Amino acid sequence: MCGIVGYIGHREAYPIVLKGLQRLEYRGYDSAGIALYDGKDLNLCKTKGKVADLKTLLEKEISTSGKLGIGHTRWATHGVPNDVNSHPHYSNSGNLVIIHNGIIENYDSLKKELIKRGYTFQSDTDTEVLVNLIEDVMTNENIKLGKAVQLALNQVIGAYAIAVFDKNKPNEIVVAKLGSPLAIGIGEGEFFIASDASPFIEFTDNAIYLEDHEMAIVRLDKDIKIRKIEDDSLVNPYIQKLQLNLEQIEKGGYPHFMLKEIYEQPLAIKDTYRGRLLADEGIIKMAGIEDNMKRFLNADRIIIVACGTSWHAGLVAEYIFEDLARIPVEVEYASEFRYRNPVITEKDIVISISQSGETADTLAAIKLAKSKGAFVFGVCNVVGSSIARETDAGAYTHAGPEIGVASTKAFTTQITVLTLIALRLARAKGTMSSSDYRRHLHELELIPEKVTEALKADKHIQAISELYKDSRNMLYLGRGYNFPVALEGALKLKEISYIHAEGYPAAEMKHGPIALIDENMPVIIIATKKGHYDKVVSNIQEIKARKGKIIGIVTEGDVNVRELADHVIEVPETLENLSPLLTTIPLQLLSYHIAVLLGKNVDQPRNLAKSVTVE
Ligand code: G6P
Repeated sequence: MCGIVGYIGHREAYPIVLKGLQRLEYRGYDSAGIALYDGKDLNLCKTKGKVADLKTLLEKEISTSGKLGIGHTRWATHGVPNDVNSHPHYSNSGNLVIIHNGIIENYDSLKKELIKRGYTFQSDTDTEVLVNLIEDVMTNENIKLGKAVQLALNQVIGAYAIAVFDKNKPNEIVVAKLGSPLAIGIGEGEFFIASDASPFIEFTDNAIYLEDHEMAIVRLDKDIKIRKIEDDSLVNPYIQKLQLNLEQIEKGGYPHFMLKEIYEQPLAIKDTYRGRLLADEGIIKMAGIEDNMKRFLNADRIIIVACGTSWHAGLVAEYIFEDLARIPVEVEYASEFRYRNPVITEKDIVISISQSGETADTLAAIKLAKSKGAFVFGVCNVVGSSIARETDAGAYTHAGPEIGVASTKAFTTQITVLTLIALRLARAKGTMSSSDYRRHLHELELIPEKVTEALKADKHIQAISELYKDSRNMLYLGRGYNFPVALEGALKLKEISYIHAEGYPAAEMKHGPIALIDENMPVIIIATKKGHYDKVVSNIQEIKARKGKIIGIVTEGDVNVRELADHVIEVPETLENLSPLLTTIPLQLLSYHIAVLLGKNVDQPRNLAKSVTVE
C-alpha cells in the first residue's frame, strides 16, 4: 500500500510529483505529502486527506520550485492518518528526508535504541524510525548516504520501497526495495522514481524495476548503479521498454475509472484471448502452458491462491477446471494458506491469481509453495510485477491498467485466461469431445459482443439502483458457476456503497440467510437458463413466499423468473461455464450506480486500497 514518487532532473519537480501521486492514489489515499529542494531550502508539506487536499494546502504554504522532489500517498499502517504521520519524514537533523511504502516490523526495538541515543520522534510511524536509523549510521560511521542506507537496511526486518535524499547532497536520491514495488524511469538527464510506471509514462518508456534486496543511487551525473543490500555486490541493470500509454491511465470521458473499466470489458476480454484463441483452427496457444504441459498433465491437483476479487475468479476456475479438464482443484485465501502448514507436494501446481501482482499474502503463498517444491503459475495483469517475476511460468491477462479500487475488468479477464487454460488442458487430456471443445472456443470468441449487449441494460439497472439504494442489507444468490459471481456481486456492493451484502449459494439460503428475508430485503439472484434453472426458480418461490424483493439476473427472453421477480435484468445466452463473464456485468453496474446515487467515492472507497502490499 502507499504510493511513492520522486524526481531529479532539469524540470520543475512539483508538477511531476503531484501528478504522479494522483495516479498512484489507488494505492492509498488517507494522507499525502511532498518534499521539494529548491537549490537552497528543503520545503515540505503534508496533510491528512487526499492529494487534492495536499495541492490546495501546499500551494498556499510552501514554494513549489525545485528540481528535486519526493512525494507520498498513504494507506495507514503504523499510526492513524493525520498530518504528523503523513510522509515524507525528516531525520532529527532535518537533513534527510524519506518516503516509504511497506512496514518495518522491528521498528519498536530500533526506536528504543535510537531514543537511548537521544533521538526524538514526532510521529507514530515506523518510517520516521528508519530515516533516523539511517542518519545515526551515517553520523556514527561518517559515511555517505548510500552506504548508510545499506547498513541501516541490513538491521531492518520488514518490507519497504524507499526513496531518501540528503539536502546537503541534492544531486542524488537513494532508493531501495524489499517486498514493495519500485520503478526507476530513465530520461535524458533526469530520473523518475515511483511505485509503478504510471507517474512517468509521458516522459520516458525506459524503466528499471528494482528486485527485492536491491538498492540504487540515482545520481544526476552518473549512470545508475544497482547493488545488493546484503553484500554490496553490483547488479547489472535491466532496462525495460514500457508498453503503457497515457490514454490507458486517464478517464477518457467517463465520470469514474470504475465505469470506464466496466465498459472496457469487451475489449479487455478480446485483448486477453487475442493471439491465444484461434477458434476456427480449434487451437489455444499459451506459451506458459505449452512449455509446461507435462507438469500440468501429471499434476495431482491444482491449488489456486489469491485474495479478494481474484479469489472469486479462482472459485470460478475451480468449477471450470474440474468440469472440463477433470483436474481436482482447491481454492485458498492466500492469507490462510501461507500460515496453515498446508500439504503441498512436487506434483501440485499452484496457480496464483492477482491483478496487481503485488499482493503481499499472495506473494508469500507463492514463496511457500515454491519452497515445498510445487510448480507455481501466475495469472497477473501488471506486467513485470513481483508475482509475475516470482512465479515459474504464467499468463498475463492483458486487461490494461485497472485504477478503480473495486476490481471489474480484472475479474472477467482472469476468468478468460483461466478458461483458456482449462480448455487447453481438457483438449490435451482428452476430457472433452472435439465438438464440445470447438463449441466452447467459438462461444468464447463471442463473449465480448455479448458483454456489449449486457452493458445495454445500464439505464435499466440505474433505475433499479434508485429503488434499492437505501437498503441496509442485500443478499446475492447463485448456483454452480454463478455462486462465485454472487460472492463477487456482494463484494462490489460492500466495497463502494458500504451497504452490507452477503453472497451465498442459492440452495444454502435455507440454512440461515432465509431468516433475514422480509419485505425490506432485496435479493439478487442469478437464474440463467442453463445453471440449475428449475432449482433456482424454486429458490425464488421461497423468497417470494417471504416477501423478499427479487432482482433476477436472467437469460434473454426468460419468462418464468420474470413472472415471479420484482425486476429482471437480462444477459445474452451462452454456455453455462462461460456465463460468469456475462452475469457479473449487471452486478458491477448495480453496485456502481448505487454508490454514485449515495454520493460515495466510487474510485477510492474508504479504508481500501487497490494494491495490498502489507499482510
Ligand atoms: C484489494 C483490492 C481488490 C483485489 C484484492 C486482491 O483488496 O481492493 O480489488 O481484488 O486486493 O488484489 P490482487 O491485485 O492480488 O488481485
